[in-house]
Formats: sequence, C-alpha cells, structure tokens
Amino acid sequence: MSNEHTQEVLNQTVADLSKASALVHQIHWYLRGPGFLYLHPKMDELKDQLDEHLDEFAERLITIGGSPVSTLAEFDKNSKIEMTPAVWGKSNSERVKELIVAYKYLTQLFKDGIKIAGDDGDDVTVDLYTTALGDIEKTLWMIEAEVG
Ligand SMILES: [Fe+2]
Repeated sequence: MSNEHTQEVLNQTVADLSKASALVHQIHWYLRGPGFLYLHPKMDELKDQLDEHLDEFAERLITIGGSPVSTLAEFDKNSKIEMTPAVWGKSNSERVKELIVAYKYLTQLFKDGIKIAGDDGDDVTVDLYTTALGDIEKTLWMIEAEVG
C-alpha cells in the first residue's frame, strides 16, 4: 500500500510544528504586562511540548521511508501558520490570540492526519496524531480560558 499521503501530511506537520515552536518562542520573549509571570514559563512548557511532538513526527516519517523538511526556509515556505516580525505594542491577550489561531489550525491538521494515516492503514501514525491532538486540544482549552 502506498503511504505517499501519510508522508505528505507528516511533512506538513514537521513544517507547521517547527513554525509553531518559533511563534511560541516569539511570544515568550515579547510578553509584557499582566499575566507575564504565568505566561512566560508557560510558553517554555508549550515549546517543549511542540518540539517533542515535532521530533516524533519527523522520526516517524523517516521510519516509513520519507524525508522530513529540515531547513528554516522549508519550514517557513511549507507551513500554513502565520508569523510576523514582533512589535512591542501588542497586549499579552493579543499574543495569546495569535497562539489560539495557530493551535486551532494544528488541531485540524492532526484530525486530517488521523484520517489520512488511517486510510493508508498506518496505525502507528494514527496513534501519534491522536496523542498530539489530545495535548493540543487540552492546551487550547487552557489558553482560551486564560483570555476569557
Ligand atoms: Fe526563556
């Protein structure tokens, strides 16, 4: 059975998680004002979580015969997550809203991944996406609760 579509969605995921990680790092650095003491370390935690999933997806892609994108240029070109140069004027809640947009996109991507890998009969990849989806959905619930 061809796993071409599973390879494609895994590579999309590698690009998107790499960019999501950069976005979280940007937010970590540029936070200012109410919520800083909670949000600053929280972003470190989220970045670690994204990086762990990224590594799992990239290594799964290699395991099934693929080649993960690996340069910053490829991450940026292939990812559908939006990121712009940081400015100091934004409120923490505006930054957290940018994070919510990115995380909502990731939940849809992971749901697509479950479907695509399932169609290819790749239960291990389905399992990776299911675990990652659970983590991202839980985080989304927490950060949405934070902004009210
Ligand atoms: Fe830091």
